[in-house]
Amino acid sequence: MAARVILYVLFVVALITVVCCSSATLKPADTPYKVQYVEQYVDNFNFVSYGQRTYKQRVLVSDTYWEKSKGPIFFYTGNEGPITAFWEASGFVKELAAKFKALLVFAEHRYYGESLPFGNRSFTGENIGLLSVEQAMADYARLMTGMRTQLGCESPDVCPIITFGGSYGGMLSAYMRFKYPNLVTGALAASAPIYLVAGLTEEHQFFQDVTEDFRKSDAHCPLKVQSAFVQMDELAAEGQQGLKEISDRFRLCSPLTDRQDLSHLYGWVRNSFTTLAMLDYPYRTAFEAKLPANPVNVACGLILNSSDLLKGLSQAAGLVYNGTDGTLECFDIFQEFIACADPTGCGLGDDSTAWDYQACTEVTLLESTNNVTDMFPPHNYTAEARAEYCRDTFGVTPRPDWMGIQFWGKNILSSSNIIFSNGDLDPWRRGGVLTNLSSSLVAITIEGGAHHLDLRGTNPADPASVTQARQQEEALIGQWISQATNQVWEGPTTK
Ligand SMILES: *[C@@H]1O[C@H](CO)[C@@H](O)[C@H](O)[C@H]1NC(C)=O
Ligand SMILES: *[C@@H]1O[C@H](CO)[C@@H](O)[C@H](O)[C@H]1NC(C)=O
Ligand SMILES: *[C@@H]1O[C@H](CO)[C@@H](O)[C@H](O)[C@H]1NC(C)=O
Ligand SMILES: *[C@@H]1O[C@H](CO)[C@@H](O)[C@H](O)[C@H]1NC(C)=O
Ligand SMILES: *[C@@H]1O[C@H](CO)[C@@H](O)[C@H](O)[C@H]1NC(C)=O
Ligand SMILES: *[C@@H]1O[C@H](CO)[C@@H](O)[C@H](O)[C@H]1NC(C)=O
Repeated sequence: MAARVILYVLFVVALITVVCCSSATLKPADTPYKVQYVEQYVDNFNFVSYGQRTYKQRVLVSDTYWEKSKGPIFFYTGNEGPITAFWEASGFVKELAAKFKALLVFAEHRYYGESLPFGNRSFTGENIGLLSVEQAMADYARLMTGMRTQLGCESPDVCPIITFGGSYGGMLSAYMRFKYPNLVTGALAASAPIYLVAGLTEEHQFFQDVTEDFRKSDAHCPLKVQSAFVQMDELAAEGQQGLKEISDRFRLCSPLTDRQDLSHLYGWVRNSFTTLAMLDYPYRTAFEAKLPANPVNVACGLILNSSDLLKGLSQAAGLVYNGTDGTLECFDIFQEFIACADPTGCGLGDDSTAWDYQACTEVTLLESTNNVTDMFPPHNYTAEARAEYCRDTFGVTPRPDWMGIQFWGKNILSSSNIIFSNGDLDPWRRGGVLTNLSSSLVAITIEGGAHHLDLRGTNPADPASVTQARQQEEALIGQWISQATNQVWEGPTTK
């Protein structure tokens, strides 16, 4: 087939059109969207390997609030999961869109959700190599450029684009401003650990901060956790009988058979406690797990109240795997947790394979535990251990210095118009930008806030700090938009 050159992004058939609502009664949380599939090059950079071959990227679009061909474009730079999950967890962006008459565009990251460059063969050794931060960003830049043309936004002083994202998505929203400032007017980078992933922060800090969250809940809580691990070590030293006892008290579906199984159980607990700390929101949520309000307090309650340390630890960890309305009879730790190149967890399914690959290539996540500054058994996760795992798993060797080279290390002063927001309960916080670097590279701290709490929709249980942070964010974004629309703006040249 003679491949037709698809120069600009083409919107292919809208699949689902959500019907509804008079916008007077519409709650931002119920904002309807359309699902669109956009043609993107499989390889944005190598003209030989795949030529004009394209894949379909999933994009959620809502013009519910948009002042057509004029209002700003609020663009969520999708991260490591289905874009629909980020749509659900980003109520604040919708609330802002209503205020600024903005178009909402949530773009899915290649290799996640439905945006698979090679369909169900995307994760094979020969196909996974086109998963990279740069490829994903190029997809976003092409999408932005194509949209401006298609939506009647050619003039540079209309439809300024603001990027939004949390966590890795927050990194991408900032990087898009670094790399494509002609397209992106400003960025809200929520909980974006840009220094950590470049290997520029201390490797014990992450789990120290997870531990700190448990200590804040109750000073005895981390001590009990440590004691539980000591008890497990002692039991394991007794051999099969001891492993059987641990398995029973943890309610495992199949008993541990060796030390390696035991380390997997340790990883399972660590992964759960990391999730509890990250998602320690003041109300019930269903983002990565169905969690109760203030889940770290709930976990510590279970640990401190139980007369059996191991049962307490199991129930606390079970908050993540069994959820608030769980139906599990027992825990299958190999189903529920997959060890990978990211010691803070990769999730499950194909998304976990994709993130594992990213953690094996560009994204450096060498977080270690030591049972001194944190409550977890020592786990010295070294660059060598990572490299060996990555060669065995994907046949690749990580390049720990690349993110720092590509995205400017700690010298980001030549950028502007970026908000770096971080909650002080978030273990990723100290991997990010925590001080104001210039009048337009602004750091906002949210006391009592977990991982990108500010991106979530307004909730009656919100601490005053997050309400204030959102007001500051709104004011700054408002300034950027008015600057962009009043002044001549060097927009993209199309054609
Ligand atoms: C992959 O997709 C193809 C085409 O849709 C289908 O025929 C095949 O069964 C799928 N393979 C797997 C392993 O899911
Ligand atoms: C733990 O015990 C305290 C005091 O008895 C009680 O207030 C609290 O609700 C209990 N927590 C849990 C999770 O059972
Ligand atoms: C999962 O949660 C349900 C409901 O709370 C509970 O009955 C069940 O015992 C839990 N499963 C495990 C393995 O703890
Ligand atoms: C952790 O440290 C404590 C002392 O701070 C010690 O008693 C315990 O044995 C250590 N646990 C592990 C698993 O190494
Ligand atoms: C972890 O391993 C590295 C490299 O082998 C070594 O330099 C470091 O001292 C180790 N750290 C701990 C806490 O054992
Ligand atoms: C950065 O500046 C803003 C005002 O623009 C201020 O509200 C905020 O507290 C400052 N951040 C830090 C970390 O000092």
